[in-house]
Amino acid sequence: MNEQENTTEKKVSSLQSTTVLAKNKKEIYSVTGNELLGSIPLMTKKEVEAAMNEASLQQKTWAKVEVYKRAQVLHAWADELLKNKEELAVTISKEVGKGISSAQKEVDRTADLIRYTAEEGVRLHGDMMKGDAFPGGTTDKIAMIGREPLGVVLAISPFNYPVNLAASKVAPALITGNAVVFKPATQGSLSGLLMIKALLNTNLPKGVVQAVTGKGSEIGDFLVTHPKVNMISFTGGTATGQAIAEKAKMIPLVLELGGKDPAIVLEDADLDLTAKNIVGGAFSYSGQRCTAIKRVLVQEEVADALTLKIKEQIEALSIGTPEEDADITALIDEQSADFVQSLIDDALSKGASLVTGNKREENLIYPTLLDHVTADMDLAWEEPFGPVLPIIRVKNETEAVELANASEYGLQASIFTKNVEKAMKLGAELEVGSVQLNAKTERGPDHFPFIGVKNSGLGVQGVRRSIESMTRDKVFVLNF
Ligand code: G3H
Repeated sequence: MNEQENTTEKKVSSLQSTTVLAKNKKEIYSVTGNELLGSIPLMTKKEVEAAMNEASLQQKTWAKVEVYKRAQVLHAWADELLKNKEELAVTISKEVGKGISSAQKEVDRTADLIRYTAEEGVRLHGDMMKGDAFPGGTTDKIAMIGREPLGVVLAISPFNYPVNLAASKVAPALITGNAVVFKPATQGSLSGLLMIKALLNTNLPKGVVQAVTGKGSEIGDFLVTHPKVNMISFTGGTATGQAIAEKAKMIPLVLELGGKDPAIVLEDADLDLTAKNIVGGAFSYSGQRCTAIKRVLVQEEVADALTLKIKEQIEALSIGTPEEDADITALIDEQSADFVQSLIDDALSKGASLVTGNKREENLIYPTLLDHVTADMDLAWEEPFGPVLPIIRVKNETEAVELANASEYGLQASIFTKNVEKAMKLGAELEVGSVQLNAKTERGPDHFPFIGVKNSGLGVQGVRRSIESMTRDKVFVLNF
């Protein structure tokens, strides 16, 4: 065994929280530069079974630990993350190709999220109800309603926020007395495992959190159909989310899936503010965010002026590597870049006009703006998860709302106008979880409810809502 293999071996053993060490491993390379970053165990079903059993066993004890002590563990976890911020940020940046300052922000944001979750969790109180005179009812009853953990939470995180979107599932599960089986996306798993390593450096009892890694084809279905899983929290693509929902049957689910968030721009909008928010919303992390602005629905009267402003801002974006902290970096893999390119090609072949971009170097797609995109083009409906933005010109607000709602997705929408009353009225018509007034679409702050409707998801996240989703009511009735 050479020195590098030896180091990797040690890294893997120290990260794995199960007692079983997988024999097979997968090497993980950086998105750009092809640098070997480490390797992850390719666990078998038998190894996952052991992890699941251990989590289920340990959960019973963890649920009895006082909530303030569980909160202490979370605070210690946040401290550990910040202590290791640079290592974590560099790993995130290389592993998922994210600009280094965004990766650093992801660590800070995660520490805040964990602390807020700890504080919110200690204030999770029950309720009490007096009986009342329903037919056959009586007032001689009191219901005492407490919150109980669900048991084992299966947390499946995506590549794009390998630390933040993992912790946003693990932290609420832990504070409420659940155990966690954590399955990170393969590209992103080194970052996720480092995050878990920080958690294992606290007083968290051994075995409460289990990290499982491996091929979806080997352990994916086994995990989501495992009888010891009591709740699944998944963030990722819509097709995978739908497949999980079909297999999970009666297991409670929270799913955060795809989006096609529109920016609706009315004729009275402040176009400078609008262009700035649209470019920030559409192109940060090269568009690889479920909440990215993925289409502009603009009233014809201001379409030319807005397009020009967006073009100028796009052309000021830096293009390069995560290490250079560039705004636009290579996409996560070749398949993703091919897909984005196919959407651009389809739109251009059907008559869209290229405003800027449409240049590709391997998996790096230059930020691309297409005007005169119409409903017959795939780009009007598909989620690219990459740096391409279609401008769809509309006659009026009614057409904007119709097009917005014609999408299979319903995550968020932005409305840009100076007329707040009109925005509220339009917003009420939109089939989405959140409407942003005069700002870009985004999930945070992380304690806000975050909801996807239609094919964008199921259930609600956001610190308080995540806590609620991982607990259930338990009623004791006192009869007197
Ligand atoms: O990709 C999905 C994330 O939930 C988006 O989060 O709006 O903070 O980038 P974000």
